[in-house]
Amino acid sequence: MRPITFWGLCVAGGAVILAVACSAPQQTAAPAAAKPAETAAAEFRTTATIKDIMDSVVDPSADYMWESVATIVTKKGTEERRPRTDMEWKEVRRRAIAMIEGTNLLIMDGRLVAKPGEKSENPGIELGPEEIKAVIDADRASFIKFAHGLHDAGVKALAAIDKKDADALSDAGETIDEACEQCHLKYWYPLNTPDVLKKGSVRKTS
Ligand code: HEC
Repeated sequence: MRPITFWGLCVAGGAVILAVACSAPQQTAAPAAAKPAETAAAEFRTTATIKDIMDSVVDPSADYMWESVATIVTKKGTEERRPRTDMEWKEVRRRAIAMIEGTNLLIMDGRLVAKPGEKSENPGIELGPEEIKAVIDADRASFIKFAHGLHDAGVKALAAIDKKDADALSDAGETIDEACEQCHLKYWYPLNTPDVLKKGSVRKTS
């Protein structure tokens, strides 16, 4: 009975109402299934590789933060480097923001590890891009967890910067270092060949 009533109303109300009102009940009954992965691939344009993002965003930003709170010992004496002026704090804050948001760039769908054909610079020690990709794809949730680890370490640094607390920034620097190392140990230069590669499906012979 119900569909007939609808059609009857719509026809009586004219073509415009037919288009709007008659499509509504159908949409409620069968909502279009959201496909987050496809949406993300369409929305984001992933030009750079993970390797590029390390080189251009994550590494220089972290370096800047580490160097801004370093203790430099030379023959002339010890220099306690720390941001002092507002401008210096502002600059280190910029680097923290870049590193924090850089972690989101790493985990975007469609992001390549390296350019096609790019090889590991230290084969035998570092995994090649295809191998890194295989380890990431085998357990994407872990890769995201490591990226979040760096994100959260960066947020700790940001809080220290906003309080202009150089000691806390130095502590956060250590947490950042650990977060880099944990991810690299799994994906870049694992001490032991990961299980996914031992199966022989992706390990290259060359
Ligand atoms: C979520 C994982 C992850 C985190 C966290 C991470 N890295 Fe990386 N990093 C990688 C992977 C994977 C590669 C290897 C990419 C390749 O060589 O193909 C890499 C490579 C690099 C490289 C080499 C880039 C090049 O041009 O060859 C540098 C430098 C680097 N990382 C620095 C850092 C620093 C510094 C941090 C922490 C502040 C960090 N990374 C945190 C995953 C991570």
